[in-house]
Amino acid sequence: MNQINVSGLKKNYQTGKVVYEVLKGIDFSVEDGEFVSICGPSGSGKTTLLYVLGGLEPYTAGSISLFGKELNTYTDAEKAKTRSQDIGFVFQFYNLIPNLTVYENILLSSVLGNNKSKDEILPVLDSVGMKDYHAYYPSQLSGGMQQRVAIARCLINDPKIIFADEPIGSLDYKNGIAIMELFKTLNQTYHKTILMVTHNEDTTVYGTRTLHMLDGKVMKDEKNNQ
Ligand SMILES: Nc1ncnc2c1ncn2[C@@H]1O[C@H](COP(=O)(O)OP(=O)(O)O)[C@@H](O)[C@H]1O
Ligand SMILES: [Mg+2]
Repeated sequence: MNQINVSGLKKNYQTGKVVYEVLKGIDFSVEDGEFVSICGPSGSGKTTLLYVLGGLEPYTAGSISLFGKELNTYTDAEKAKTRSQDIGFVFQFYNLIPNLTVYENILLSSVLGNNKSKDEILPVLDSVGMKDYHAYYPSQLSGGMQQRVAIARCLINDPKIIFADEPIGSLDYKNGIAIMELFKTLNQTYHKTILMVTHNEDTTVYGTRTLHMLDGKVMKDEKNNQ
């Protein structure tokens, strides 16, 4: 089944009278279980595309069907529910809440996702190798560890799709590889659909497919050899 269908997608930003075209007509679909890398140079519109698909930014023209329903027909309540329960976001700078412990960061996400049980918190932390750190604060952890916690935070509500924006952009090589392996496991073992933005061609090998973006357009859409 297609989880995402994008056609003729355009997105403009406007500052004063100046209209800036960031997405200039994009078409693609994402099927259940794909791991799509969105690759391209800085400024090509990758983050904008991810935010628009996740409902964090409105779009200017074209259509986005998310889980079979046109995104701009979602009510605010439907959008909030989808964002908290069906999709998960992972960012470059982790965005953990500094004055909450690892456990509390996950608990907060779980409560926002209307997840009544706390039983899954420690197992989810275990699945990303962070169970022993549940009582730590983010500042006590390395970047790689914080990103693992951010991934656990998104997994706690069992999302159908994970959107990740340069998730290893702040990590050293070794930690970056470990996080990419974790995403690969989430895709292959837990069948999560993943859309990951990267400006580094080397990391696209972890995915099943690569969209190459340049100047607001998808220039190439290729399946990867697994
Ligand atoms: N809120 C905004 N207002 C105006 N222009 C923006 C905004 N966000 C992004 N842009 C512009 O859109 C272009 C694409 O940005 P972005 O999607 O962040 O690219 P990428 O993630 O590929 O580096 C850039 O030229 C950027 O300056
Ligand atoms: Mg970006």
